[in-house]
Amino acid sequence: MAVFGVLALVSLASRRGLAQLSDQAGRPLTPVKSVTGRSVGAALLSLLAIALAVGLLIQLTPVPHTNPPVQTPLQWDSPQTQQLATAACMNCHSNQTRWPWYTYVAPASWLIVSHVNSGRDEVSFSDLNSMPTFQKSSLPNKLADDIRTGQMPPTDYMLIHPDTQLTASQREQLIQGLQATLAKTLATTNQLTSTAGPVARQPQLKKTPAC
Ligand code: HEC
Repeated sequence: MAVFGVLALVSLASRRGLAQLSDQAGRPLTPVKSVTGRSVGAALLSLLAIALAVGLLIQLTPVPHTNPPVQTPLQWDSPQTQQLATAACMNCHSNQTRWPWYTYVAPASWLIVSHVNSGRDEVSFSDLNSMPTFQKSSLPNKLADDIRTGQMPPTDYMLIHPDTQLTASQREQLIQGLQATLAKTLATTNQLTSTAGPVARQPQLKKTPAC
């Protein structure tokens, strides 16, 4: 009995509360619509439509996918190094970036292009001569540290490119290969600039008095 009494009181109190609410608002209280499956579906559909529209709109702000000319062609020490480095490093540290279709889809494209641009700014294996000498000489040690500690290639890159999840011995092979390739490339580019320099300048010097 007591339970029924309490229930009756509660229902009375809530009715009075509702009546008060309608009085305060100054208009009759309309019955509260229950959230039906249909209205949830409609809300989800409109959210999806908005997401789709935003997804399409952001495609209209493309970012440039560049590959400037290669200034210092690498003298690979072996085809294995070339294969490992091309997969693991060259997409972000050279002017021979491969741009698959998904690198053109925003917002992923914005992130990838900015990664490539800052990677190239930091180290470009396609333009070694434009690196300051102190950076060039520290590069062999830096790349060894970065590869050994797992900083390079970056983790998110390895997730998209599972073939770059290298074993410890592959990492060592890549380090030694890259160091040998750097030494070989820098030796030839230095040689070229020191011998080609005077030869290229001589005809110009001879021409000047004739003019
Ligand atoms: C997804 C792009 C990407 C890939 C792939 C990548 N890097 Fe990098 N790398 C970067 C970016 C961005 C920076 C500059 C910012 C930073 O240090 O994180 C950088 C910086 C560096 C630096 C300079 C860091 C320092 O200590 O000053 C070295 C050396 C380097 N990377 C070597 C490599 C090597 C070697 C590989 C291949 C094993 C590689 N990277 C793969 C993006 C990349």
